Amino acid sequence: MQALYEGKAKRLWATEDPQVLRMEFKNDATAFNGEKKAQFENKGRLNNTISTLIYGQLERAGIPTHFVKQIDDTNVLVKKVEIVMVEVIVRNVSAGSYCKRTGQPEGQTFSQPIIEFSLKSDELGDPLVNDDYIRELKLATPEEMAFLRASALRVNDFLSALFAQAGLRLIDFKLEFGRLASDPSVIVLADEISPDGCRLWDIATGEKMDKDRFRRDLGGVMEAYEEVLKRLQELS
Ligand code: TMP
Ligand code: ASP
Repeated sequence: MQALYEGKAKRLWATEDPQVLRMEFKNDATAFNGEKKAQFENKGRLNNTISTLIYGQLERAGIPTHFVKQIDDTNVLVKKVEIVMVEVIVRNVSAGSYCKRTGQPEGQTFSQPIIEFSLKSDELGDPLVNDDYIRELKLATPEEMAFLRASALRVNDFLSALFAQAGLRLIDFKLEFGRLASDPSVIVLADEISPDGCRLWDIATGEKMDKDRFRRDLGGVMEAYEEVLKRLQELS
């Protein structure tokens, strides 16, 4: 069988139900738009387990997602969606490309969260765009953009509180959304939420507990993911 889609960290497979896909988490890690690559044993399992736990909590909090159910260590069933080709990034504290772009130091808390958008395009290196670009590129309507902003802030509030209970500070993260194949007027949260797409700092020590450990060669990448999972599991 051929995967319907293969990305840098996941594959999507068809199931008997045309409205449902199987999403497989790979052990591959990439950074800097795929320039840096590695494989980590257990990464697929850890990200799947963390993401499943978080999606379950989001659903219970009334935030609609593509999540259906976990089938095994590295696979979940998800509702089929058409991905909105815009990555939604929320920042609470300065880090990463915000610092590169502005020359500001890491670790400054913003007065309000920053929401930014980039094109979901490996070829172009996910360039930063604004609402006007997205409208003209017909990637989302202004009404959909208003929904994405509101949803991103709601998810930020929820996740910031959840991670804080786990002793982790949510610095920034990336979300992807999709239009349900069964009803494209409905937009749900898609993709994954894991330390691959979030920056998480230990509140007690300031230690980085996310993919920056891989990006910056800090070592202990899977140990950090394992610790994030352990702390989230202790809450539930
Ligand atoms: P950035 O500071 O590199 O723009 O990243 C902001 C957040 O978004 C960070 O938590 C990592 C996440 N992210 C992804 O998940 N995928 C991406 O392609 C990029 C650029 C960032
Ligand atoms: N997700 C992107 C990549 O895999 C960028 C990053 O996370 O640094 O290349």
